[in-house]
Amino acid sequence: MAEIGFHIRDSYRTIFYRWMIILIVRYVVAISGASGAIYGIRLLQELEGEKILVISRTAREIIPAETDYTVEQVEAMADQVFDDDQMFASIASGSFRYDAMFVAPCSESSVAKFANGIADTLISRAVSVCIKEDRKLILLVRETPKSAIMLENELKLARLGVRIVDANPGFYPRPQTVDDIVDIVVGRCLDQVGVDHGLYRRWE
Ligand SMILES: Cc1cc2nc3c(=O)[nH]c(=O)nc-3n(C[C@H](O)[C@H](O)[C@H](O)COP(=O)(O)O)c2cc1C
Repeated sequence: MAEIGFHIRDSYRTIFYRWMIILIVRYVVAISGASGAIYGIRLLQELEGEKILVISRTAREIIPAETDYTVEQVEAMADQVFDDDQMFASIASGSFRYDAMFVAPCSESSVAKFANGIADTLISRAVSVCIKEDRKLILLVRETPKSAIMLENELKLARLGVRIVDANPGFYPRPQTVDDIVDIVVGRCLDQVGVDHGLYRRWE
């Protein structure tokens, strides 16, 4: 009986914590024009809390080309949406607060901009702000093979504390489907910000 009471208290606590996260935590998610738009979509589906979304011009074309989602359906997964040329958006300012920013997937063209302080789109400006304010920034980079320029740009960002997560799944969780593979990569992104998830089986 005491054990049942404990479980009930435990699930109330879980519900309470989930609501606290939804009320308090705020994320910026950018989808850029690399292959793997589904990573950004799964991330939006898995993240709890307030979500602010920006989709680059190329990504707007890649989403319907690569996935079963329309751009409108993806935008509906966020609480607030900005266009990549909306430089007056809240996230363009360092005074606007949020907990972490993800660029998923992240193109090497975007990586090059970020590594060189170019801030001529909303995504690159928000990233530039994230770096100068020393906030958590996760880039889910997708390109292969990588040139020395790409590797140097990524290294430069990694040395600044930016988390470079390659769209490169481990196979120890024994994925059976493409969805499993996507979830392993997205799960590794969530690991970077300490979000609890069950997207893949951890090594034990
Ligand atoms: C279908 C498609 C797939 C692409 N895949 C990649 C990719 O995987 N990685 C990459 O770095 N660029 C990729 N590109 C090129 C980028 O879209 C291009 O460099 C673009 O300028 C990136 O701009 P953005 O980062 O502002 O979206 C792809 C382009 C297209 C049309």
